[in-house]
Amino acid sequence: MELAKRRGFIWPSFEIYGGVGGFYDFGPLGTILKNKIIQKWREFYVIGEGFFEIDSPSVMPEEVLKASGHVDHFVDAMVECKKCGTAFRTADLAREQTGKDIEGMSKEEMEQFIGKNRVRCPDCGGELGKIFDFNAMFRTTIGPGSKRVAYLRPETAQGIFIDFKRLQRYARGKLPFGVVQIGKGYRNEISPRQGVIRLREFTMAEAEVFFDPEDPHHPKFSNCADEKIRLWRAEDEVEGREKLTEVTAEQAVKKKFVCNELMAYYLVLTKKFLCELGIPENAIRFREQTPGQRAHYSSETWDAEVDTARFGWVEVTGLAYRTDYDLSRHAEFSKEDLTIFRADKKRKVLCHVIEPSYGIDRPLYCMLEHAYTTDGKRKYLRLKKELAPIEVGVFPHLNRDGMPEKALEVHRSLKSKGFMSEYDDAGSIGRRYARADEIGIPYCVTIDHQTLKDGTATIRDRDTAAQVRVALAELPSILRSLICGEVQLGEVGEPVKK
Ligand code: GLY
Repeated sequence: MELAKRRGFIWPSFEIYGGVGGFYDFGPLGTILKNKIIQKWREFYVIGEGFFEIDSPSVMPEEVLKASGHVDHFVDAMVECKKCGTAFRTADLAREQTGKDIEGMSKEEMEQFIGKNRVRCPDCGGELGKIFDFNAMFRTTIGPGSKRVAYLRPETAQGIFIDFKRLQRYARGKLPFGVVQIGKGYRNEISPRQGVIRLREFTMAEAEVFFDPEDPHHPKFSNCADEKIRLWRAEDEVEGREKLTEVTAEQAVKKKFVCNELMAYYLVLTKKFLCELGIPENAIRFREQTPGQRAHYSSETWDAEVDTARFGWVEVTGLAYRTDYDLSRHAEFSKEDLTIFRADKKRKVLCHVIEPSYGIDRPLYCMLEHAYTTDGKRKYLRLKKELAPIEVGVFPHLNRDGMPEKALEVHRSLKSKGFMSEYDDAGSIGRRYARADEIGIPYCVTIDHQTLKDGTATIRDRDTAAQVRVALAELPSILRSLICGEVQLGEVGEPVKK
């Protein structure tokens, strides 16, 4: 986090006014990285899966969120200290003080639990009062006056369900079909203590996969049937066992560990996506939520979790079987018929939904943490090369003899060919390499005396610090092949002896 802040990846928001918990800014490098993650996600879901992308408002009128169940169910059971008046999330206090999970209990059951187990205010030891609901949505109004109540969306998904009629027409009756939305979501978290992991405003990338419940198959399932996934099943968690079961996607369906083929397919796709971000496969697992942990709309939820040094296992993606909950509720509340007619099966279908819902901010943190590497005194960010915010650094070896001019010419030429290139002539060459390593620049090109004589330059590899000498004329094609991993440094030029 120190490096991320110092080098311009992530900054606390509103910092000069003391900051506000749960809000972070992305600095110049963080913003590029975040956009690259989003781009990668689009490659998976919009290009790979052929899903349609939409973009709908963040402000939603109350009736939409009444129908979706968020007004009534997107709540946390809170409890206030009778002595000092501080409010706490009841289930968190119970977990901290008794080790027990009371998520999903009714208010009455929670009150009894607290009394019986003598759960007290952690700040002053005072007795706790009655349990009350706190809705985690940010409330606002549309236009002047207080009549038209609205909320900032807690998920982008609702914008997709609202447009279902138009979307299914656009899909021309094809099932399954998927729709995605990428954008901000808002949750008024009670005590966001975990930095960028628990944000009140965050970026989500959500896919809603609509399918016929009698036909829950994925046309490309055979491509992933043999892929392994590590599952922590709810029945083990409920019994207090942190036991991972490794199965193939096909076994997960056959053994009924997951609800259907679509769910298994998207678990695998999620694993592949996280691996593409540079997260090692052995740091990824899927935890099934227990019934008490699940959102009101879900009958089965799997959280993709990534192991981190700072926060332990962190949920980065939620995959929920939303059944026909959302479409049937919106049909009921809007009085619109949201069934579709399957001409091939000669029947009407109310689609069911599998939802892979990704946070973007959390994977970004996980990527940074997994990329951070130390090697003796050297610190570097071993980011996937194609995802590094700056792809190439161009340096004059010395600030004289025409080297800066030549380096600037090379830098401008690389930019004109689409490279995210950075020119740096500040400080010694060693310091410039060290800075480049810290922000994860995969390749640095150095212009030296020999460049001026024979038109060659050195390329230095971030991970090994090895250098080769190549002809400037070939630099763009060599860098392109290196960045996308087609070739290794040793294959593209003469090694430079240090
Ligand atoms: N749409 C999934 C979620 O709100 O967590």
